[in-house]
Amino acid sequence: MCGIVGLVSTQPVARDLISGLGQLEYRGYDSAGIALAGPGFVVRKVIGCATDLAAALRLDETAGRAGIAHTRWATHGKPEERNAHPHVYQGVAVVHNGIIENHAMLRERLVESGHVFLSDTDSEVVPHLIAEARARGAAHLDAVQQAVEWLHGAYAIAVLFADKPDHIFVAKYGSPVLIGARSGVVAVASDTIALAGLCLRYTALEDGDLAVLTPDSVRILDSFGKTASRTWELVMDREQAAELDRFEHHTRREIAEQPVALRNTDALLRGKPLPDGIAAAQRLIFVACGSSLYAAATARVWIEKLTGLPCDIEIASEYRYREAPIQAGSVAVLVSQSGETADSLACLPLFRARGVPVVGVVNVTQSTIARASDLVWPTTAGRELGVAATKSFTAQLVALLRLGVAFSQARDCDPAVRAQVVAGLTAAPMICAETEEMEPALAELAHWIAGENEALFIGRAAGAAIAGEAALKLKELSYIRAEAYAAGELKHGPIALIRQGSPVLVFAGTDALVGKTVSNAEEVRARGANVVAFTDADGASAFAGVAETVMALPGRGVGHMFAQVVALQLLAYHAALALGRNVDRPRNLAKSVTVE
Ligand code: G6P
Repeated sequence: MCGIVGLVSTQPVARDLISGLGQLEYRGYDSAGIALAGPGFVVRKVIGCATDLAAALRLDETAGRAGIAHTRWATHGKPEERNAHPHVYQGVAVVHNGIIENHAMLRERLVESGHVFLSDTDSEVVPHLIAEARARGAAHLDAVQQAVEWLHGAYAIAVLFADKPDHIFVAKYGSPVLIGARSGVVAVASDTIALAGLCLRYTALEDGDLAVLTPDSVRILDSFGKTASRTWELVMDREQAAELDRFEHHTRREIAEQPVALRNTDALLRGKPLPDGIAAAQRLIFVACGSSLYAAATARVWIEKLTGLPCDIEIASEYRYREAPIQAGSVAVLVSQSGETADSLACLPLFRARGVPVVGVVNVTQSTIARASDLVWPTTAGRELGVAATKSFTAQLVALLRLGVAFSQARDCDPAVRAQVVAGLTAAPMICAETEEMEPALAELAHWIAGENEALFIGRAAGAAIAGEAALKLKELSYIRAEAYAAGELKHGPIALIRQGSPVLVFAGTDALVGKTVSNAEEVRARGANVVAFTDADGASAFAGVAETVMALPGRGVGHMFAQVVALQLLAYHAALALGRNVDRPRNLAKSVTVE
């Protein structure tokens, strides 16, 4: 995973480099490092984040006019200083995003020829290979090219040479990387967020590209070694610095921002037509990871009702290797907040190869998935800083349901279902705000669950998918063991988990299935479970006498789903607070997972 940024300029770069690095911390934040050159050659690494790195640099070390920096999410080797990037060997400093799959073989060969390794990382082979090529007499660019020819796997690499301090060399295969520029400054970065404020325009490198950067030039060589000319785009201005306002955590602020995020997303997509090639879909294949996957699974229930189209929900990391038959007439929908998730991205070529159009439901519209999609169907949740998805999840629900409405219109499906969904979407922002007012009761429940240190979430239809998101959120934020099951599946195994007092949390609206879900709640209650029902006003009476606690949440039907989501978010947030967790940056996680 990880984020990389590099700058070569006519002025010292350390400050801008560290500010850009700070913007990339959503990709990992266990350790950080920087190499600066010209004058001198300085390398610093810390356990921690960009601000820790800034504190570790002495003023007299910050004169370099070229530099590369890295924020890490450990894949190979523990988060220790020696495993932090840049990795340096004989005056060659390298930052790397991706995974070098054949690193063990390369390391063995290099060690045999006398190279000494300092880290446990896959990335460290890269500076060694470059230094080896230099020692054979290769020029700087040739040495980088010869080194990457050895690599199998995915990489975005930036290289700084102590003996060529006014250049940065970049190589890309599999992992996204951008080149940015403005007068007197050229940059390399994992995404545009790091470039905003530093550069005015950017271009994305393609697989097999090499780039040579100086303060006033960018030379890109394609995989055939030919000079390539690429289209440049404007870098969007950095969003206003995210203030915590009255909130203690970004995650909590982002929960509160949902009404605005939903209204904006709905306004943007209302009435947006589908191009003919997409409107003609006979089947929809949703591919995603993490919360985005649960957003697709939640929306599917209504999209099938709206459109009559079969909808598949696919885990990207499985789908990319499954060799699943893709029927002609399918349309793929990649759902990704960041638009950079490696596994989701890896499914794109499968669809391309079969001529299947791709719709990108992304929050970051200058992302790799957005650039590669035939149709961008954006969420406008605004930047999400908390690692756990909150407002991006509900904004995805809005966008996906709007996509369903657009298909329903194009296919001339039942207008009554459409009206029902549109009414739910219109009501959703207010429903979120009203649910937030139930925070004290949700906090109380969260304290109880934190004490029990386990939870089982169940539901049917959309409620089953929401249960999945609830369990994920609770695990991510509080590290409590949580499971989610389709309520009807309980008796096939998970009911064995139930003991006296087990917390079982049920998501049920008043749909045709509420009676069935109440029966499932009865089954666990009969075995000692302590049942909490998240339901609507009518469901509250159905659960009376079955659930110990009935949370009667606002809204009905589609709108009510949003209330259930806000409730599960506040529950997880307060459980995390009760246990003293790092809410915005949970252990072992990263906001954007750019390795498989
Ligand atoms: C990470 C994040 C999750 C997110 C998932 C998918 O695991 O921690 O919150 O849901 O990646 O990310 P994407 O950007 O593709 O939605």
